[in-house]
Amino acid sequence: MENAGYKLFELHDAQKTRITGRYMLVDDIEIETIFSANEIKVRIEELAEQISSARLQNLLVVPILKGSFIFAADLIRALHGAGISPEIDFISLASYRGAATSGQVEIVRDINTPVENRDVLIIDDILESGHTLAFAKDLMSARGATRVMTCVLLEKPTKRAVEIEADFLAYQCPDFFVVGYGMDLDHRFRELPFVGRIAG
Ligand code: IMP
Ligand code: MG
Repeated sequence: MENAGYKLFELHDAQKTRITGRYMLVDDIEIETIFSANEIKVRIEELAEQISSARLQNLLVVPILKGSFIFAADLIRALHGAGISPEIDFISLASYRGAATSGQVEIVRDINTPVENRDVLIIDDILESGHTLAFAKDLMSARGATRVMTCVLLEKPTKRAVEIEADFLAYQCPDFFVVGYGMDLDHRFRELPFVGRIAG
């Protein structure tokens, strides 16, 4: 039996590539593609090779939820292709973006895997102020990890508040709000297979 939703997706995806370079969602919200599913796939293979060169030992991969879950799922499969067999655990962090409380990060759900004397690779979707990634990195170091490395899909360089760079980066991102490939706007659009911005 045909899945009507999937058929619709195929139709719009074809329109996007063929005509406008844009993707029209069913409820009339138009999302402009910034990084396509295909180019992300290629880039992730490259990242996996770079990560493999770092020779991380007894590796624990820690994706930061929720935004990195799709990126992490693809990257971890690419790591397999690069000969890496990591353990995986998830941490969920919330950062407060209000003017008065900037920089405060809270653990919503912690990992329950020991990190002592092992290498850790933290994965996140976007490195913006740096508070989230710095918090996660410091936490793993404080718990006794040997090496803590970081891999992010996107970096917005202009808004950094903490001095931190990702060890592995897929793309620099222009300074506008992006959705898709795990990232949301008010809990929507995580399911899009590409990174886009809401047009108009
Ligand atoms: P920061 O580096 O602590 O400022 O936090 C970056 C986090 O903010 C990311 O992990 C995202 O969850 C969120 N974020 C920042 N910019 C965007 C965006 O353009 N779209 C979706 N989420 C974003
Ligand atoms: Mg996030």
